[in-house]
Amino acid sequence: MSHRPILIAPSILSADFGRLAAEIQAVDAAGADWIHLDVMDGHFVPNLTFGPPVVKWVRGATERPFDVHLMITDPDTYAPQFRDAGADLITVHAEATRHLHRSLQVVRGTGAKVGVSLNPHTPLSVLEYVLDDVDLVLLMTVNPGFGGQAYIPAITNKIKRLREMIAARGLDVDIQVDGGISSGTVLEASRAGANVFVAGSAVFKAADYRQAISDLREGARAGRGSDGV
Ligand code: DX5
Ligand code: ZN
Repeated sequence: MSHRPILIAPSILSADFGRLAAEIQAVDAAGADWIHLDVMDGHFVPNLTFGPPVVKWVRGATERPFDVHLMITDPDTYAPQFRDAGADLITVHAEATRHLHRSLQVVRGTGAKVGVSLNPHTPLSVLEYVLDDVDLVLLMTVNPGFGGQAYIPAITNKIKRLREMIAARGLDVDIQVDGGISSGTVLEASRAGANVFVAGSAVFKAADYRQAISDLREGARAGRGSDGV
């Protein structure tokens, strides 16, 4: 049984954008492992956020890895720009690109780590011929577009099945979960086999960022139980 490291990635979607660099410094100081940046284009998802210049402006605020979650319809065009802006990991949605394999190769070509994300309804079978080419699979535990939504319980079994699929192939792939992750839901996601936990409102709406991150980490550790991930 392999033990992937537990990583907590606060999502800046719920941060105060008027003080974005300071907010990133604050979660870094509070124990964040990665910084999760949600890029939305108003086409793939019904919301808009920011592009490469903002990533570049805040890159100097921390040395923590930048985990860039692209919720955009044309990842092949923009992935290199996000890499230039300072992304360490770039995740593209399987539903957002006509040629998923090509999009993953484009990200790989930038030198960034490669992630693929699946919406809640998207079956794991889309991963069959690309799983060997990625560093991380992001399973959405809400429909993408907004912070503050409720975790979809049906995804817990999807996490478990993905962890089995990865283990059966002897691969070294992170499972990230995103949406509705709190000190309550982190436990079941971790127990099912996730090891990277994105949390927007659970961190940025908390009075004490350090406490919030530490509660998430404790919940994730507790979910490992005796058999681990
Ligand atoms: C939603 C984004 C998430 C969002 C999660 O489309 O991908 O990263 O910030 O927010 P919470 O943790 O509040 O559900
Ligand atoms: Zn996200």
